[in-house]
Amino acid sequence: MQQTSGMPTHIAIIMDGNGRWAKQRGLARSMGHREGAKTVEIITRHCLEIGIGHLTLFAFSTENWSRPKAEVEAIMNLLRDYLTQCEQQQNREVRTRFIGDRAPLAPDLVRRMDALEAATANNTRMNLNIAINYGGRDEILHAARRLACLVAEGKLDPRDIDAALFSQGLYTAGQPDPDMIIRPSGEQRLSNFLLWQCAYAELIYMDKLWPDFTPADLDTAIALYAGRDRRYGGISG
Ligand code: FPP
Repeated sequence: MQQTSGMPTHIAIIMDGNGRWAKQRGLARSMGHREGAKTVEIITRHCLEIGIGHLTLFAFSTENWSRPKAEVEAIMNLLRDYLTQCEQQQNREVRTRFIGDRAPLAPDLVRRMDALEAATANNTRMNLNIAINYGGRDEILHAARRLACLVAEGKLDPRDIDAALFSQGLYTAGQPDPDMIIRPSGEQRLSNFLLWQCAYAELIYMDKLWPDFTPADLDTAIALYAGRDRRYGGISG
């Protein structure tokens, strides 16, 4: 199957470089995250304006707990501020979902995340996934355990397991795979992000740090994507 790229349906972003942005200015790392949260607002609005259907943002990984307690707390508090903004705005366009394992998160956060998901469930213009305590391997294990339980209970024949059934156990069940993954900050790796879903994603690495990332940078990334020849294992035709 070959597809002319054009506009991506689903953009995923690894929001990297907050710490370096702060360091360059002699500020605490938490200030970089604060600035990064402003970029979240700006880029989400831009995606909405240009008609992107799905946006996934990597905000906190399963590995980020190893950071200093104060930094983890600062990111969680930014998430609280974000939830407050969303609660006040009552946006009727964006369906917000949180992907990742909620078990270790503070109960007040989980309650408000659940409530925002419920409040925005009927919004259809854009789907926004915020990845919190998300890890690609963790997600795949979670999906595998689900199928193993069904097999153990005699409800599933292992021979019936295919990619579509497996995908139903992912946090992104029912959503299209990302067409492109953008990583600002110059690093060129996936860092455990959407490992299953990125099978055919175009990877776009950019030198800007996330707090400096602008709508024009997103447009540049989309132009790069549009120039790619997506072959899905086939040949150019
Ligand atoms: C990676 O940069 C960034 C994070 C681990 C946190 C991202 C969080 C936000 C943008 C704000 C909170 C999000 C929402 C949705 C309100 P880094 O700290 O690893 O940067 P570095 O590589 O320069 O040190």
